Amino acid sequence: MTTSGTNTQSSSIHGTWSKRWTFILAASGSAVGLGNIWKFPYITGENGGSAFVLIYLVCILAIGIPIMIAETMLGRRGRKSPILSMRDIAINSNASGYWQLVGIMGTLAGIFILSYYSVIAGWALAYIPKLASGEFSGVSGAAAKSIFDGEQGLLSDYKTLLFWHSLFTIVTVYVVARGIQAGLERAVRFLMPALILLLLVLLGYSVMEGAFAEGARFLFAFDASKLSWNSALVALGHAFFTLSLGMGSIMAYGAYMPKEDSIAKTITIIAVLDTGIALIAGLVIFPLVFAHGLEPSAGPGLMFISLPLAFGHITGGELFGTLFFILVAFAAWTSAISLIEPGVAWLIERFGATRRNAALILGGAAWVLGIGTVFSFNIWKEYKLLDTFTIFDGMDFLTSNIMLPLGGLLIALFVGWVMKPEAAEDELNMKNPALLSAWWFLLRYVAPTAVAVVFVMGIYDKFAG
Ligand code: PHE
Repeated sequence: MTTSGTNTQSSSIHGTWSKRWTFILAASGSAVGLGNIWKFPYITGENGGSAFVLIYLVCILAIGIPIMIAETMLGRRGRKSPILSMRDIAINSNASGYWQLVGIMGTLAGIFILSYYSVIAGWALAYIPKLASGEFSGVSGAAAKSIFDGEQGLLSDYKTLLFWHSLFTIVTVYVVARGIQAGLERAVRFLMPALILLLLVLLGYSVMEGAFAEGARFLFAFDASKLSWNSALVALGHAFFTLSLGMGSIMAYGAYMPKEDSIAKTITIIAVLDTGIALIAGLVIFPLVFAHGLEPSAGPGLMFISLPLAFGHITGGELFGTLFFILVAFAAWTSAISLIEPGVAWLIERFGATRRNAALILGGAAWVLGIGTVFSFNIWKEYKLLDTFTIFDGMDFLTSNIMLPLGGLLIALFVGWVMKPEAAEDELNMKNPALLSAWWFLLRYVAPTAVAVVFVMGIYDKFAG
């Protein structure tokens, strides 16, 4: 990103991305990450499969895409950090400057998410040498599980976890400090196709060697008996998480988007790509899970047990497996930088901080918080907040199931009911009136109602149901 001295309506003080592709690459780099490959399969497994998947897909279409369009539009309209963009646009619409609280909550959510995101990305990093050295070749399901969470397994070794968590945080801070355009564009342009290609190779393997029919049925054969309000909230929260929504990442990137680009079209492409990658990851993992007698509800370890197991039995598995975890780590990295970008942009605007110091401060905060997540898998495993949550669970619940849906709800209400509609339409510049009306309808009525109902019922179900 290049920095220009002045701030006009058509560019941000943080610079504008020059080429058409940059926003698409950066936003899909943000969206596609651990959420698609690690989180989607394991929460689908924990929530019983197909009914959960259906709710997730409906949430993406009816809630995620409309709000993602709104969030990008706000960013490009405001041309500043989410906090100041929200404030400026609110004031321009004769509303209270307190709307900036949405940006503040989102900025905090980004730091909280990064705190555990980098721990999980650290697992992926730790797996690179494990696969390269052939530790998984020919192993049984039980052995693959114990390499992950057995007594001598990765999770029990908090020093190793801390090491990889720290390394991942450092590389994240490094890129953000340098300005995110430089390396990111090249990285995403090459990595995204490579990741998709490798997932398709794995899909081929799952079709031939896994229990593919059983896996596909688990994902897609609708079974209403598995529905619960709490699962619906997890699905809704994940729709926000996977699209990097409700906390300002996409708003911050929107601020760097050139004026001419079509927001609606671009966002729809990114959402479809993101959802497609998650579904393929599910179609790779579940057939392997069933073929090897693993538990679909195994939790956060699902990907780290099922995939190495498969790699252990493929010819060339050491190479493919190593490559796979490298790509997962890269995908996580391009997401992680977007988690602190809202806060970094704000520290620069508000306090005149340098990009480097801003990145160090926020990355440092996330790193410290992340130590709690590291310990929640070993020495603090038994310690449960509200008798339910380890620190990792708590951070995940607080961000995915509370902060992101709440942020998304407020963004929908703000754009739907507070912001001047002419301003929103001018920025969106949508050519098709039917699509524009559909967007207004989803944003004003459907999204707020659905999020509010699922949020209230889901929380009730979780704690009182
Ligand atoms: N969307 C990212 C993923 O799926 C995570 C993320 C959430 C990134 C929120 C930025 C903001 O892994």
